[in-house]
Amino acid sequence: MKTSIPKTFHVKSFGCQMNVYDGARMAELLEAEGMAPAADGAAADLVVLNTCHIREKAAEKVYSDIGRLMKRETGPAPMIAVAGCVAQAEGAEIPRRAPGVDIVVGPQAYHNLPALVRQAAAGARALDTDMPAASKFGALPARRRQGPTAFLTVQEGCDKFCTYCVVPYTRGAEVSRPWAAIVDEAKALVDMGAKEITLLGQNVNAWQGEDEKGRAQGLDGLIRALDALPGLARIRYTTSHPNDMTDGLIRAHAEVAKLMPYLHLPVQSGSDRVLKAMNRSHSRDSYLRILDKVRAARPDIALSGDFIVGFPGETDAEFEDTLRLVEAVNYAQAYSFKYSPRPGTPAADMDGQIAAQVMDERLQRLQALLNAQQHAFNQATVGRRTAVLIERPGKRPGQLVGKSPWLQSVHLETGAAIGDIVDVEILSAGPNSLAGAALVREAA
Ligand code: 5AD
Ligand code: SF4
Repeated sequence: MKTSIPKTFHVKSFGCQMNVYDGARMAELLEAEGMAPAADGAAADLVVLNTCHIREKAAEKVYSDIGRLMKRETGPAPMIAVAGCVAQAEGAEIPRRAPGVDIVVGPQAYHNLPALVRQAAAGARALDTDMPAASKFGALPARRRQGPTAFLTVQEGCDKFCTYCVVPYTRGAEVSRPWAAIVDEAKALVDMGAKEITLLGQNVNAWQGEDEKGRAQGLDGLIRALDALPGLARIRYTTSHPNDMTDGLIRAHAEVAKLMPYLHLPVQSGSDRVLKAMNRSHSRDSYLRILDKVRAARPDIALSGDFIVGFPGETDAEFEDTLRLVEAVNYAQAYSFKYSPRPGTPAADMDGQIAAQVMDERLQRLQALLNAQQHAFNQATVGRRTAVLIERPGKRPGQLVGKSPWLQSVHLETGAAIGDIVDVEILSAGPNSLAGAALVREAA
C-alpha cells in the first residue's frame, strides 16, 4: 500500500484503439490533478495498466507486468492501478491474485481515478467498476495537444453478443455519445493541430443521434459534420459491424473527400455454419454483397478484416471456406487470431473445442495468405503519386514516417514538418511499409 499522493504517473495501454483513447484521457485527467507524466513505468510513482480482456494471452499480460513493477530496480514499487477491460471483468479478484495492486477501475469509471488515487494514498484499496448511467465524458478535462492524428471515441459497448466475445460484458451496452459533445471535441482537436481524426467505437457504425436541429443522424451524418471543419484533412472510423453498414455510410465513401479510402470490416469466418454458431447475424454472401457496394462507391478502397480460426466445431472444410472468402475479397490488411475461450461467453462451453496444434496450423495458413495479399496491395502502390500525412520522425536521421490514404506507413526523407501533408511518389514496397520520395512542386 502506498501512503502518499503520487507526483508522477505513467499510463500503459494494451489492446485496441479505444484503450489508447482512454489511456490518453486518463493521462489528461492525472495531469489536470497536478501529476507529471513520466517517460515510462520504471520511474513513475503511479503506473496505470490499461488492460485488454479480449483473448487469454492479452488478459494474462497484466499479471506479468504487475510482477515486474513489484520488483523494479529503480526503487520501491509504484502505486499500481489496473484499468480497462480486465479490471471490469475480474474486479476484486485482481488484488486477491496480485496483492500489490492498489486501484481497480473499469472503462466506464475512470473519471473517478483522482478520487481513487487519494483513497489508495490514504491506505485503502480502491475499486470502482460501476457502469453509471451518466457518462464519464462530462467529468473529464478538456483535450490536450496530441500531434497530427487523434482518436475520438463516439460510441462504446456492444449489443451484438457474438458467442466468443467478452466485449458486451466488459464494455456494456451500446451507447452513442451526443452529437454536440463529439463535434465540440473534434473542433478542439483540430484547434490543437489534429489533421486526422479517427472516430472510434466497438460498433462505431452503429452510432446514432440527433444533430443540432434535432434530425436523426447516423455515423455518415457525423462524418459529414466533421468534413465541414476547416483544418481537418482526414477522417477515418473503426471498428464496424457488417449489419450496421448503411447505404448512407457507403455513399459517404463516394461523396466525402476527407473520408479516407479504408474500411475495417470484420467477418471472422467464411463459413455460414460457423457464422451462425458465432451469432454473427450476417452470412458470407451478405458480407460479400456489402463489400461489392462499398467498392462500387469507392473503387480504390483498402479493405481490412478480423478473423478467428479454430472456433469450436470448425471443420477443415469450414476453415477452407474462410480461405476462399479471403481469396474472394483480397484484403489490403487484416488481423487474425486463434480462438481463445473467454469466461462467461457461450462459446467457451461449446462442444468441439479445437486442439492447439490444429489452430496453429490454420492460423499459419491464413496469415500466409493475408500477408501475401497485403504485400501485393503494397506493391500495387509503387509508382503511384499520393498524399502522405507526416506523423513522426523515422529511425534514421532525416527520415520521416507518415501514412498514405490507405493507412500504409510511408518512409521518406523530406524537409517537411510533422503534421504536413506531402505529395509523394511511392518508390518501393515491403510487406509492412512503403518508401517514397517527396515531390517538389515546380514553380509556375
Ligand atoms: N478469441 C479470439 N479472437 C477474438 N476476438 C474477439 N474475441 C475473441 C476470442 N474469444 C477477435 C475478433 C474481434 C477482434 C477484436 O478480436 O476477431 O473482431
Ligand atoms: Fe464482440 Fe461481436 Fe460485439 Fe464485435 S460485434 S464487440 S466481436 S460481440
